[in-house]
Formats: sequence, structure tokens, C-alpha cells
Amino acid sequence: MSPKPIIAPSILAADFARLADEVGAIEGEADWVHVDVMDNHFVPNLTIGLPVVQSLRKSTTIPFDVHLMITDPERWAPGYAEAGAYNVTFHAEACENPVALAKALRAAGSKAGLAIDRDTPVEPYLELLPYVDTLLIMTIKAGFGGQAFLPEMLDKVRDVRRRISAKDLAVRLEVDGGIAADTIARAAEAGADAFVAGTAVYGADDPAEAIRKLRALAAGAGPSHD
Ligand code: DX5
Ligand code: ZN
Repeated sequence: MSPKPIIAPSILAADFARLADEVGAIEGEADWVHVDVMDNHFVPNLTIGLPVVQSLRKSTTIPFDVHLMITDPERWAPGYAEAGAYNVTFHAEACENPVALAKALRAAGSKAGLAIDRDTPVEPYLELLPYVDTLLIMTIKAGFGGQAFLPEMLDKVRDVRRRISAKDLAVRLEVDGGIAADTIARAAEAGADAFVAGTAVYGADDPAEAIRKLRALAAGAGPSHD
């Protein structure tokens, strides 16, 4: 049985000049706020960092799901846990010892997430599932919002779901990139149970209503309804 779907709007698609208001607009509807940290090194894009997370943390009760698209996550990730993030996800491609970093994150007070980018196979990381709380499968190439969903990434989601079920692990399986009303059900059917949505939420006239729709589509398609 999969747990209830998590909807995590990404503030990458929000108005950065009004971040507290933008997060306020999804209060009571979003399960997590997804915060994309990019360093102009691991990915070409540059977004926000720790000071913004620290300030924004005070303006909402919604748990933060921090997605670090940065090199040297060992140096920076625990600071986000200390700033009160609920979950901190770092990239497999950027980390030499994911188990050690996951342990450090838990010690610093957050859940630990491992992200797999578009061009990275998931098989070598399946054995790490017992050590993490979240496994994030990119359904685009990490770096920019507003890209088209890549359905071929769902084979990875199926592989991870199979392993989570076989070992009865308490791991959230998150998808990120191009998740919208026309793609979320496919991701849920493949076994995802946490869904990042940037453009689909903040590009909508009514972000709260967009979240409700996405949640209904995910809940109607998830493996728990088999
Ligand atoms: C991109 C980020 C995503 C991004 C998704 O690298 O990790 O979280 O905000 O944006 P959409 O939902 O627009 O594809
Ligand atoms: Zn993200």
C-alpha cells in the first residue's frame, strides 16, 4: 500500500519578489514546498540559497522539501536541515558517499533524499534505498523549470517502486519535472507517491485549485488503488 500522494509545488515557478505571498497562496493545500537550490556549477542555472530558505521558513508552516542541485553537497546540505527543512535531497551525481551524507542530514534534523538526474541509471543506487527517506527521480534534465515531461524516465520509477515494495521500505518516491494534469497520473501509476509541480501550480490562475486537481489525479491513479 502506498501512502497518500504528496503534492510539492516548486517555488522556482513563483514570483521571487513575493516569495512569502506565493507560499501563502498554497498554505492549507500543499503538502511540501519544493525549494530548488542551483549553484551555476552542478547545473548552469543559479537560484536561491540558505539565507532565502532561512527567511522563508519563518513565513509558513508548510514543510520544506529542499532540492539541492549543487556540487559539494557534503559541505552545504546539513545547513538546510539546521534551517528547519523537512527533507533535504542531494544529487547522486554530486556525492561520493551518499550513505554518510544521508546520516549527517538525519543527525542535523531532516529527512534525507537522493536525486537521480535524467542521464543517470538508477540500478547502482537501489541498494541505498534503506538509508534514505526520499528517492527523487528527475523526469527532465535538472536545471530549469518548464521543460517537457520525459515518459521514458518512468522505467526508473517502476524499478524503484518494485524495490521499495519488495523490501517494504518507508521511502517516498518523488518525481520532478513536467508534472502537470496531463502527466501526473502516468507517474502515479508507475509508482511515484510525491509529485513536484512548478509551472502547473504557479503558472495556474488559482494555485490552490491546481494543487487540488493534481492531488485528485494522483490519488485516482496510484498503485494503492489497484
Ligand atoms: C528543475 C527543478 C524542478 C522544477 C520543475 O531542475 O528541479 O523542481 O521547478 O518545474 P516544472 O514543474 O515546471 O517542470
Ligand atoms: Zn526540483
